[in-house]
Amino acid sequence: MYHKLRPMEQINLSTKIVVCVYEELNEIEKKLIDVAKEACQRAYAIYSNFQVGSAILLENKEIISGNNQENAAFPSGICAERTTLLYANSRYPDEKPVMMAIAAHTNDSFTDQPITPCGACRQVILEAENRYKIPIRILLYGKNQVYIIESIKDLLPLSFGELQLNASV
Ligand code: THU
Repeated sequence: MYHKLRPMEQINLSTKIVVCVYEELNEIEKKLIDVAKEACQRAYAIYSNFQVGSAILLENKEIISGNNQENAAFPSGICAERTTLLYANSRYPDEKPVMMAIAAHTNDSFTDQPITPCGACRQVILEAENRYKIPIRILLYGKNQVYIIESIKDLLPLSFGELQLNASV
């Protein structure tokens, strides 16, 4: 048995998440969250009744917002994060997305706790970080707590990206 030949190793991963409340944020961070919350109102979420909004601050200071767009064929719907980021990248391919805020609303209220991006959105955010060669700061809004993440790599350890694709095996 191979583990008798050499001791097994263990890799421990850790993630840094700053936890705060909305009132502790600076003006631009608050603004980005406000725009993400507003975007929830325009979500098309008739199947889940879970409206997600997202807002992205570009390097030129412009703010782009978007939301989830559902479909009767469920997998054809798309999350707020990808709607917003892919629109920003297609409309402003030369502007780096520097910060992103995400908020979610359901049953007449914003969620108490932050919601975190799904796996597919994490992968798309990672691609943007690699494409623009910057970490994208992410603010996850909850009424009781806000999480601040400095890079999607904190939420996607051992990620698959361009480096793996180009690595010779
Ligand atoms: N959703 C998002 O838009 N972003 C997330 O981070 C999690 C989930 C959407 C997908 C679907 O329209 C609804 O929320 C319920 O999963």
